[in-house]
Amino acid sequence: MTDVWSQRAQLYVESDAHRSGQDLEQLVAWAAGARTVLDVATGGGHVARRLREGGIQVVTCDAAPGMAPDVVCPAEELPFADSSFDAVTCRTAAHHFSDVRVAIAEMARVAREQVLLVDTAHMGEAGERAESLRDPSHVRN
Ligand SMILES: C[S@@+](CC[C@H](N)C(=O)[O-])C[C@H]1O[C@@H](n2cnc3c(N)ncnc32)[C@H](O)[C@@H]1O
Repeated sequence: MTDVWSQRAQLYVESDAHRSGQDLEQLVAWAAGARTVLDVATGGGHVARRLREGGIQVVTCDAAPGMAPDVVCPAEELPFADSSFDAVTCRTAAHHFSDVRVAIAEMARVAREQVLLVDTAHMGEAGERAESLRDPSHVRN
């Protein structure tokens, strides 16, 4: 999994759909008031960039070393103590997680106040099949 993602790293940095968007602005608005944030599955680091512009201290993590996060780790096993960050963010990534319930439990464990998660919506089984054909790293919306 991580090799595939690492090969895509530059694409995610440059992608217009990831660099900006209403969902990104919504996440930034929700995070207002946090002083420290962990951005899980950071990819091209766009959430972290926007939050840092607002003066928030951000640690990034991702399972793929090629994404150059601060910490390489799976969302299902976050190497941080309980309540380490005011908020945890995770944008457009949970549909790739092998065990989303464990990942969300981990995010809740390391967050003091908020877990802010934005992802693609489930639109039926045909949509899931189409996504998996388009992108083999898709697990479930
Ligand atoms: C679509 S990109 C993330 C986009 C990014 N959050 C943004 O806002 O632009 C999906 C990311 O999820 C990461 N990923 C996939 N499975 C993961 C897992 N189990 N744990 C942590 N990161 C994972 C990939 O390496 C990739 O960087």
